[in-house]
Amino acid sequence: MLVKTAEFVTSNTDVNKLPAPTLPEYAFIGRSNVGKSSLINALTGRKGLAKTSQKPGKTQLINHFVINKDWYLVDLPGYGFAQTSKKNRAEWERFIRRYLTQRENLQCIFVLVDSRLDPQKIDLEFCCWLGEQGLPFFLVFTKADKQSAVKSEQNIAKFKQALLTWFEEVPPCFLTSAEKKSGIEQILEEIDSINTSFEPPVVA
Ligand code: GTP
Ligand code: MG
Repeated sequence: MLVKTAEFVTSNTDVNKLPAPTLPEYAFIGRSNVGKSSLINALTGRKGLAKTSQKPGKTQLINHFVINKDWYLVDLPGYGFAQTSKKNRAEWERFIRRYLTQRENLQCIFVLVDSRLDPQKIDLEFCCWLGEQGLPFFLVFTKADKQSAVKSEQNIAKFKQALLTWFEEVPPCFLTSAEKKSGIEQILEEIDSINTSFEPPVVA
C-alpha cells in the first residue's frame, strides 16, 4: 500500500469523543518506549507525525491519524511506565481498556514488543488479556536494527513459545526496524487486505 496522505485528527482520553467509527481502525500499543510512535512515522513515511522521545511516557493520549482518507491509525500511550504514579497508571488502564473493548471499528491491535528482550511478563499478560477479551492482535517486534537477525529470531521464538502456554496458536508476527524502515511494507499489506473487507458498523 502506498501512503499518499497521513493527517493528525484528534487526541483524546474520552472514548465518547473519538472520530465517528466509519473507517477501519488499527491501534498500536506496547510498553512505553518500545517504539510505537517511531513505527507509526515509519509506516506513514512522515517523520514528525507521531511525537517520539528517548524518555518513556511521551504519548499520553489516544491519537488518531487518518491515512489516505481511508483508515485510522491510532497511537496509544505505552504501558509499564515506571515513573508514573499508581493513580496515573490506573487511569491509563481504564481508558485504554475501555477504548480497546468498545471501539466498534477497531479491526486489529498491533502489540509492539522489543525484539532485544527475553519475553517480558507485562507483554505476555497484555496479550492474554486481549485473548480473554476476544480481541484480534498481531505481534510487531521492534528495533531489529539493534542486534543480529539471529538474536531477534531467538527472542521471537521464545515469545511465541511463552504465548503457547495460553494460546492454541500464535498470531502473525512482524519483525521491524523504524530506523531501517524494515518490516513496514508487510504491515501495510496486512492492513490493506483487512481494509478491503471492512463494513462500517450500523449506527443506531
Ligand atoms: P511512549 O510514547 O513513551 O510510550 O514511547 P513509544 O513506544 O512511542 O516510543 P518512541 O517511538 O517514542 O521511541 C522510543 C525511543 O526508541 C526513541 O529514542 C526512538 O528513536 C527509539 N526507537 C524507536 N524505534 C526504533 C528502531 O526501530 N530502531 C532504533 N535504533 N531505535 C528506535
Ligand atoms: Mg509514543
